[in-house]
Amino acid sequence: MIALGADHGGFLLKEAVKQYLEEQGIPYRDFGTHSEESVDYPLFAEPVARAVASGEASKGILCCGTGIGISIAANKIKGIRAAVVCNAFCAEATRRHNDANILCMGGRVISAEQAVEFTKIFLETPFEGGRHQRRIDQIAALERP
Ligand code: RB5
Repeated sequence: MIALGADHGGFLLKEAVKQYLEEQGIPYRDFGTHSEESVDYPLFAEPVARAVASGEASKGILCCGTGIGISIAANKIKGIRAAVVCNAFCAEATRRHNDANILCMGGRVISAEQAVEFTKIFLETPFEGGRHQRRIDQIAALERP
């Protein structure tokens, strides 16, 4: 299951991604928001990040105006590697190298078509492991008090 979330600035991207997942028959859970009315992005980052961290969701997709605020919030949750992506190269690289588990995108930065393109890449690209696993382990070590 893919966990989806957005604030008002990312709402339209989330809806485009949701439509793509529906067309592909990929299960998802939409944690909101459900309109373009102004809301606070940490409130949507948290349930998505917790769903991914707990294993309820295999990956998450979060959208706000820039993708930045919602990624900062999601990255506060232990086990989350949320990456802001604004091109296809980064969508692929953050899976191959960072094993990113949440894709973050900005509705004031990219188009709905790009959001769908980056989602497809993000969901289909495997983690390379090897030397990158060592670095992921080092990131995880930073979460210890
Ligand atoms: C909301 O106006 C905006 O700040 C938010 O969507 C996001 O861009 C924050 O990083």
